Amino acid sequence: MKALVLSGGSGTRLRPITHTAPKQLVPVANKPVLYYVLEDIAQAGVTEVGIVVGESAREIQEAVGDGSRFGLQVTYIRQEAPLGLAHAVLIAREFLGDDDFVMYLGDNFVVGGIADLVREFRTQRPDAQILLTRVPDPAAFGVAELGADGQVVSLEEKPQQPRSDLALVGVYLFSPAVHEAVRSIKPSWRGELEITHALQWLIDEHRDVRSTTIHGYWKDTGNVTDMLEVNRTALETVEARTHGVVDTDSEVIGRVRIEAGARIRGSRIVGPAVIGTGTLVSGSYIGPYTSIGDNCRVENGEIEFSIMLSDSRLEGVGRVHGSLIGRNVTVTPALHIPSTNRLILGDHSEVQIAS
Ligand code: DAU
Repeated sequence: MKALVLSGGSGTRLRPITHTAPKQLVPVANKPVLYYVLEDIAQAGVTEVGIVVGESAREIQEAVGDGSRFGLQVTYIRQEAPLGLAHAVLIAREFLGDDDFVMYLGDNFVVGGIADLVREFRTQRPDAQILLTRVPDPAAFGVAELGADGQVVSLEEKPQQPRSDLALVGVYLFSPAVHEAVRSIKPSWRGELEITHALQWLIDEHRDVRSTTIHGYWKDTGNVTDMLEVNRTALETVEARTHGVVDTDSEVIGRVRIEAGARIRGSRIVGPAVIGTGTLVSGSYIGPYTSIGDNCRVENGEIEFSIMLSDSRLEGVGRVHGSLIGRNVTVTPALHIPSTNRLILGDHSEVQIAS
């Protein structure tokens, strides 16, 4: 069994955090979402992985390398344009050979992992197995319609009138039967070879397409509330570990991971939380469900239930809550000008100010 990870895509960097990095590298509890995908694949006992890359190929290759640190052997497959998920399968034909494979979208986070699912697929060997989850906004996803006895009847990509609230999760298991399917379909109205069409082709050919409904799933949508939630979920499993230096005036409570080179001085940290490499926390309070990235400075500040990405600074600022702070950001108090706010905000920023 092999794995095909999709990390191409259009790279429309419009969201606050994906301005400067591909969405597969958006950090969740200080770790790119793609790393969770690769760890999950390794955990399922699959070692040969093809990663489909597009215009952000360089960043993805720098982040993943040859895959050995995940216990994987990675082959990169260049997709010249994001022509669809089924197109990615088409161009990966040589890598995939006649093996079964799991296709995993590189911006998806599946709570609980895929090991059980892979095991089940390996023993039962249907032609395809899809994962579904109930969502409040099915029109933003591929949507499945199930028959009375639970079999997959139809699949539709981003339908205007969804026939159910069962969205396709970005993990698909395939036998080599999918290759004929991806060769047989035509591009959709949006010019993409849709994997939903390939699956529908298999269904229409009376092939065995099964589904499993899961709970606990997230994909990068650029939605800050969702990001804080997935960060919270990931932090739930953080192990307490101190590789950095914590002085005797500090207190660290609960599951807190303090990376090598981090320094904690005269501060209180209440987990679950992670503090990145090279970060200084001084005279501050870090509250639960907070991820502070690498090389940050938090001095005389308070922050909780928030994400702060690398190389950012929070100094002399009262409690920051439910916030997403990007890379190289500076948050400081306005000096000598009480009751005015000075803001330098990028496109699509959202700020809530005490009134
Ligand atoms: O996340 C689940 C959804 O993923 C499913 O419900 C949909 O049925 C499925 O089509 C897909 O929809 P998205 O609109 O979210 O797909 P997106 O364009 O964001 O691509 C998903 C991942 O695949 C992302 O990591 C980029 C990569 N990709 C995408 C395309 C279209 C490629 O590598 N090559 C491509 O051609």
